[in-house]
Amino acid sequence: MKTKQTITINGKVFPFKKEETILEAAERNEIFIPTLCHLKGTTPTGACRICMVEVKGARSLVASCAAPAEPGMEVKTESNEVIRSRKLTLALMLSSGYHDCLLCPATGKCTLQALAYRYNVNGRRFETSKSRYPLENINPFIIRDFSKCILCGRCVQACNDVQVNNAIDLGYRGVAAKVVTAGDRTLKDSDCVFCGECIQVCPVGALYPKDALHKPRYGETEKVRTTCSYCGVGCQMH
Ligand code: FES
Repeated sequence: MKTKQTITINGKVFPFKKEETILEAAERNEIFIPTLCHLKGTTPTGACRICMVEVKGARSLVASCAAPAEPGMEVKTESNEVIRSRKLTLALMLSSGYHDCLLCPATGKCTLQALAYRYNVNGRRFETSKSRYPLENINPFIIRDFSKCILCGRCVQACNDVQVNNAIDLGYRGVAAKVVTAGDRTLKDSDCVFCGECIQVCPVGALYPKDALHKPRYGETEKVRTTCSYCGVGCQMH
């Protein structure tokens, strides 16, 4: 008889499916591991490092979104070392731009904000770096605020792997890194079709619909199912 493969997470034993990652096994068993860059259905990039967990025997913390679950693995998702790492990651992200939640259209639905609250991290641990790139507001639909971008790459995956528009990519390096179009032009002058998929997956307030400005924000509105009118395909969305 075939025995089920099991993994131990936070002291409890769970079965897992073939080819599942640690994150997927945890989520299926209702164990919370925070994510920022992870986009279901696409190849994990391991870019944000917020999903790090402790695995017994491993020399360092492991990115659970990219690491396959293995039989007999012992995982801790909220050990002191894990929490320390998450706090540092969040503090660095908060200092990497202008994350002023009071004035951000994404407040209430921002994953970075929610995680900062959960792990009690404010943006004062490190000096805030100034954004190198101005806000882009010259097309009719999407505002790009580079000062809030955490370079998770979800918009790039949504554009390239989900919608197959291939309009944007990660460009430049180090402190100059940003999400770019071909030739680093504005969205208006690029292959962008303004489908809005990138806005849907942005975990912060770096991308938002122009008509969201100064309108009721997430916590002040009711969610309804509707038909998107960005590109005329007519996708149903919340
Ligand atoms: Fe795993 Fe970002 S969610 S590295």
